[in-house]
Amino acid sequence: MARLLDVRALHAHYGATEVLHGLDFAVDEGAITTILGANGAGKTTTLRAVCGMVKTQGEIHFGGQRIDARATESIVRLGVAHVPDGRGTFVNLSVEENLRLGAYTRRGKAEIAADFDRIYGYFPLLKERRRQQAGTLSGGEQQMLAVSRALMLRPRLLLLDEPSFGLAPLIVQELFAILGDINRSEGMSMLLVEQNAALALKLAQQAYLLETGRVVIAGTAESIRNDEAIRRSYLGY
Ligand SMILES: Nc1ncnc2c1ncn2[C@@H]1O[C@H](COP(=O)(O)OP(=O)(O)OP(=O)(O)O)[C@@H](O)[C@H]1O
Ligand SMILES: [Mg+2]
Repeated sequence: MARLLDVRALHAHYGATEVLHGLDFAVDEGAITTILGANGAGKTTTLRAVCGMVKTQGEIHFGGQRIDARATESIVRLGVAHVPDGRGTFVNLSVEENLRLGAYTRRGKAEIAADFDRIYGYFPLLKERRRQQAGTLSGGEQQMLAVSRALMLRPRLLLLDEPSFGLAPLIVQELFAILGDINRSEGMSMLLVEQNAALALKLAQQAYLLETGRVVIAGTAESIRNDEAIRRSYLGY
């Protein structure tokens, strides 16, 4: 399978402090990769590095192009959409207005209109609440809106930062089932950062475990899921 995202020897800094110490990882075209790790391991920083939001060294290739020196805006235009931690919806705008903003890099009114239908197909609840202010949605609905807004870009790669965070188990299951559905039906590649290892390993094909800015385990999700020693010592389930 061709690599869509290929990251080599990635270092990242906040000021003088280095927090990623040379990561290698990849996302195959049409596949889901997960990056697992405890609080502070560097998961959020890794996603921010891919989007050009932190200072990095090393190489980031996306769709065959070097993107590590590009500005965030240009990375977005190449087809990378980021669902940040804490969701980042515009709380004072309606559901519909949030979705419209998600399509800001695109032209073509008919296509954008079709995308509203596509997204409301995945998330019928958002259609019911399309005129409601985003800030008044439940946590689960807000996460669905954040994912939907990213989908409005029609990205080639969706970056997801702990989408399960703070949500009830049933809502998380529903959200992950929809992500799996989108991946299969649209062939959309995803890089999923999670602390919920059990769930992420079910959705993803490839997995990396981060510890204080280093990859300590890499392999297929299946091999890691089936390795009891890894599960016990690193994943806590
Ligand atoms: N803006 C910042 N300035 C300085 N240090 C930062 C900044 N953001 C993160 N860090 C540090 O970088 C390291 C990695 O943080 P990061 O947020 O990437 O971890 P994480 O794996 O996403 O953690 P969590 O699971 O808690 O979200 C931590 O030690 C953190 O304190
Ligand atoms: Mg984080």
